[in-house]
Amino acid sequence: MERKALYAGSFDPITNGHLNIIERAAKVYDSLTLAIVVNPRKKSFFSVEERVALAAEATRHIPNVKVDSFCGLLADYVNEGGFATVIRGLRDSVDFQNEMQMANMNARLYKGDTETVFLMGNPEYSYISSSLIKEAASLGGDVSGLVPECVLSGIKNKLQEESK
Ligand code: COA
Repeated sequence: MERKALYAGSFDPITNGHLNIIERAAKVYDSLTLAIVVNPRKKSFFSVEERVALAAEATRHIPNVKVDSFCGLLADYVNEGGFATVIRGLRDSVDFQNEMQMANMNARLYKGDTETVFLMGNPEYSYISSSLIKEAASLGGDVSGLVPECVLSGIKNKLQEESK
């Protein structure tokens, strides 16, 4: 049976911290779906189409990764897709606290035997988040090495567009 895993998030934008989790999870599972959440109440920097395109470009070198988007409850997407595993990354103890709550709530909502599996984030990227990347970049900070090349140029283009 195909071992299907899911890694969900806002990915606004995808960072090298996410990519590290993706590359490692993709080695363990037959297929890994990145599910990019569409939250109509949250203003995102990149549109969902842009986030999907950037994530697809950043993961092009990993053949068993596909990128999708979803709206609504994560558990519904998991139940419909028949994912046996939901991957989450842990950067620190704050993530652990939040993730424990979310994993327990999701466990109630999954219809099958879906398990949440945690991978420790690479310490090299433990301090970064998508917001921090956007903030630093928008103020002229150099974020190269922390995000994939396509994201680096995506951010530059977006900031140029916004300044017009
Ligand atoms: N490397 C770098 N950054 C990381 C990271 C890593 N390994 N792991 C997480 N982050 C960052 C993310 O970029 C994000 O930064 P931001 O807040 O600046 O955008 C932050 O840490 C939080 O990430 P995460 O916990 O993955 O949140 P998210 O918003 O990306 O995704 C969902 C959370 C999509 C899984 C969750 O909101 C969800 O399930 N939504 C659907 C609605 C639902 O079902 N709700 C009930 C849940 S019980």
